[in-house]
Amino acid sequence: MPLRKPILLTCIVLLGTTMSGKCQFNQTLFIPDTISGPVFNLQMNETQKSFFPGQITATRALNSATFLGPTLIMRRGWAIQATVNNNLSDTTTLHWHGLHVPAHSDGGPHLPILPGQQWNPHFTCLDKAGTYWYHPHVHKKTGLQTLQGLAGIILVRDAEESALSIPRSYGKDDFPIIIQSLQFDSLAQIVPKGFQDSIVLINGTIQPHLPVPAQWVRFRLLNASNARNFNVGLEDNLEFQIIGGDAGLFGKPVSRTRLAPGERAEILVDFQNRQGDSILLKSYASEISAGIQGGPIGPLPPGTPPMDSPLNGQDFPMLEFRVISPLSNPITSIPDTLVAQNRLEESQATNNRNVVFSSVVPGSIAGPFLLNDSTFNMDRIDFQIPINQTEIWNIHNQTTIAHPFHIHGFSFYILDRYGAPIESEESGRKDVVLVNPNEQLRIITHFSDFSDPSMAYMFHCHLLSHEDEGMMGQFTVVPLTQIENQHVTSPKIVFPNPFTDELRILISTKKSWFISDALGRIILKGMGPVIVNTTKWKSGFYLLNVQGMKSQKMVR
Ligand code: C2O
Ligand code: CU
Repeated sequence: MPLRKPILLTCIVLLGTTMSGKCQFNQTLFIPDTISGPVFNLQMNETQKSFFPGQITATRALNSATFLGPTLIMRRGWAIQATVNNNLSDTTTLHWHGLHVPAHSDGGPHLPILPGQQWNPHFTCLDKAGTYWYHPHVHKKTGLQTLQGLAGIILVRDAEESALSIPRSYGKDDFPIIIQSLQFDSLAQIVPKGFQDSIVLINGTIQPHLPVPAQWVRFRLLNASNARNFNVGLEDNLEFQIIGGDAGLFGKPVSRTRLAPGERAEILVDFQNRQGDSILLKSYASEISAGIQGGPIGPLPPGTPPMDSPLNGQDFPMLEFRVISPLSNPITSIPDTLVAQNRLEESQATNNRNVVFSSVVPGSIAGPFLLNDSTFNMDRIDFQIPINQTEIWNIHNQTTIAHPFHIHGFSFYILDRYGAPIESEESGRKDVVLVNPNEQLRIITHFSDFSDPSMAYMFHCHLLSHEDEGMMGQFTVVPLTQIENQHVTSPKIVFPNPFTDELRILISTKKSWFISDALGRIILKGMGPVIVNTTKWKSGFYLLNVQGMKSQKMVR
């Protein structure tokens, strides 16, 4: 294959100078298929896609897609049952980002799906209507696998949302907008580390256009990039309404011309009287502050790795809306109020915790970065949280770059930033918060349910390469009694226990192990994590013996 530069690179180079762009926006935006639950059958595949004319890129995707995966539609209250098949040549996991699910269904690094294996999580959809997402979470490879295409949107509906007169016809007046930035090498292959990204993809399409009806239209924006923040706005500073954030709809729409860098948002745009027009969706990255990835980075001159990118600090177009005729039942006005909010108040909290971000080399923007002076250890539980406790987490970023902080399983509210009240678009339920350089902020959350001393939830920096480098910790939710007499939970090395048809040996490192039966006979030996088919095993007690650890009693 010739080592020629992909044609579209020419366009990207132009962006910095002529943002009106001479690019054609000639590809139509790809809209992922939908699967409506409560049963989801997911296949994680290795495939390929042509992002650049005449060049083939190896990708990973779900089901029939060649990049990304289907939009999963859930309804609050549904009993969700998923079958996740790993058809990859690598171990993976599948995490439901933002959903309030039990730790054993959360898809974190303790729930590996080995190549050729299947995972069958089940949980009740308890979340409010909103835009959530899924992506792999295998330790040290979340970034690689997510950037290669293993991600998609989860769209939750509920009665409160259904009662509102807002657009909700998927692919007609309600569109997913998955924003990613990637770097491709000279052979058009995806470069796994995303700091030198130069290509912006929307739903896996480079500089696409989207026909939109001349009426109110809803967009569900998801930033699924490694590190880049997008300061989203419309051409000519056209106003839009933000109606929801990470984890649900707001109390009322907030009008804005910019959507601050962040993880997810639902916006409404009024295209009435614009039929025939074309309007660009842009990132006004020139307005992003130094230290926030996507803006000018720190004190380093342009051209300095690892933060170099032609997109940094430049305004660039991402998507062109081409306004066509309205639908037959167009939404022509939107409600003043949306859904009731139940923000947690500071007075409800009974415990405080500190989470400090620091850098191994003080002042470094290159990392590695630490959470409370440590890097991730699968065998260490950082916080044991009593069930039913409401907690304030003081997050203090002592580094010179911004880090998006995420907690699994439990959404939260931001209380304040530097002690100052927050902007209205940050007042809703969140699961990711961007913590600015040297900033201190407080969040509040309630650990309402899902006590399980043996399976942890993660909290981490959602800059995927930071997460993979270990800027992550884990917590369990436990009954109060278990905390008082035990400071550190021993790590879970088998799941489930008791077991019936299969047994997962969850060992992070390449440790050897063997299983003996009640009579002390060795019945199986192995190394590292594995899923054992135990359908033919007799009922009774077994012992798992792992090199360097206490043996673990198991029951079938
Ligand atoms: Cu979106 Cu722990 O992840
Ligand atoms: Cu980080």
